[in-house]
Amino acid sequence: MKFSAFGERFTRSTGALQLMDDLGAALDSEEPVLMLGGGNPARIPQVEQFFREELESVVADDRELGRLAFNYSPSGGDRRFRRELASMFKNRFGWPITADNIALTSGSQNAFFMLFNLFGGQMADGSRRQILLPLAPEYIGYNDVGIGEKLFTANRPRIELLDDNLFKYFVDLDNLEVGPEIGALCVSRPTNPTGNVLTDEEIDALSDLARRNDVPLIVDNAYGAPFPNIIDRKVTTAWNENTVLCLSLSKLGIPAVRTGIVVASEEIVAGISAMNATLHLAVSSVGPVWLHRAVRSGRLIDISNSVIRPYYRDSAERALGWVREYFQGVDYHVHRPEGAFFLWLWFPDLPISSNELYERLKQKGVLVVSGHHFFPGLDEEWQHKLECIRISHAQKPDIVREGIAVIAQEVREAYGL
Ligand SMILES: Cc1ncc(COP(=O)(O)O)c(C=O)c1O
Repeated sequence: MKFSAFGERFTRSTGALQLMDDLGAALDSEEPVLMLGGGNPARIPQVEQFFREELESVVADDRELGRLAFNYSPSGGDRRFRRELASMFKNRFGWPITADNIALTSGSQNAFFMLFNLFGGQMADGSRRQILLPLAPEYIGYNDVGIGEKLFTANRPRIELLDDNLFKYFVDLDNLEVGPEIGALCVSRPTNPTGNVLTDEEIDALSDLARRNDVPLIVDNAYGAPFPNIIDRKVTTAWNENTVLCLSLSKLGIPAVRTGIVVASEEIVAGISAMNATLHLAVSSVGPVWLHRAVRSGRLIDISNSVIRPYYRDSAERALGWVREYFQGVDYHVHRPEGAFFLWLWFPDLPISSNELYERLKQKGVLVVSGHHFFPGLDEEWQHKLECIRISHAQKPDIVREGIAVIAQEVREAYGL
């Protein structure tokens, strides 16, 4: 049996595959696994109760149930949900948008596959374009989505060391160039894996740069405002015709529902809808019907602000406290947690690679993600790429604490301390 070039490309081992397989194996394992590796959101009882109530009211209503499961949705996704989202964005942020500026996708991962291949790769005139990631490290899931090779190019960040073993990445705007070979810019904000939140000034500068070069700025808002709002900084969620803002229902607590939301110009939305029809016929209506009332009533935003955001703020603080406790005497830095639910740990001059550290930790029953996966498009050698790991603090506190203790022990051994 022979696979095509496409087949070989999309069946090879990737960081995302490793991460999702680790997640699946941990779920299935008889042995206890300290799962600090996945991007799974926390199971928050109050949030789950809210989801249960919303779903019960849908299931109790024959027409709603029909809409949820017994019909295909249109190619852009359930129109009522898109209308409600549009009016919510309009009321909350003043964006001049309608349902035609919104397309739904099968999770936002799927939106990135479509968007990146829409703007990058081989162009109709034979030239090639790339997606520029202005600040690497960047989200692991972008890594392998290109139909062709070398879809991404990325820039190193400017690093600022802060007090208390913290540091922060900034976009190195002085060294950021957008040439004719760039088809779009993309940033995740808050950033997975680092928990960084790009400042409004950084976003404005990137937005200007994109507009001047007539390419879109894609902002991955999977953790951002207005939902799930896992963001610990006062920043603006901006949109204009040249911005493609991607949201998701996953990090609210329902990743299995697979609903992504793309807010963009009508032209881009029409493009996504057309690709949806080819790739999936229709996207799932489960998330859109399940949550349409909560979008209309504002309950989705309320629960994001009153429960989800404080929950992760507390879990980040707790995890940071344990890092400080267990890593005393080790030369380490942590990216300042400003959003999402990860800690990004940096061990300067670590004598082993972060991947070796991942392997050793796996042997000890602790799953993390090696930092080297998070540099899509940054091909140059840079020791920093091999010195970081990502840990999630979305699991139960005992698991996070125990996991951090094991990691600290392993890192000490690697340094010979
Ligand atoms: C930054 C970021 N973007 C996108 C996604 C994809 O999420 P989903 O496909 O579940 O919407 C994730 C998931 O971990 C993420 O962390």
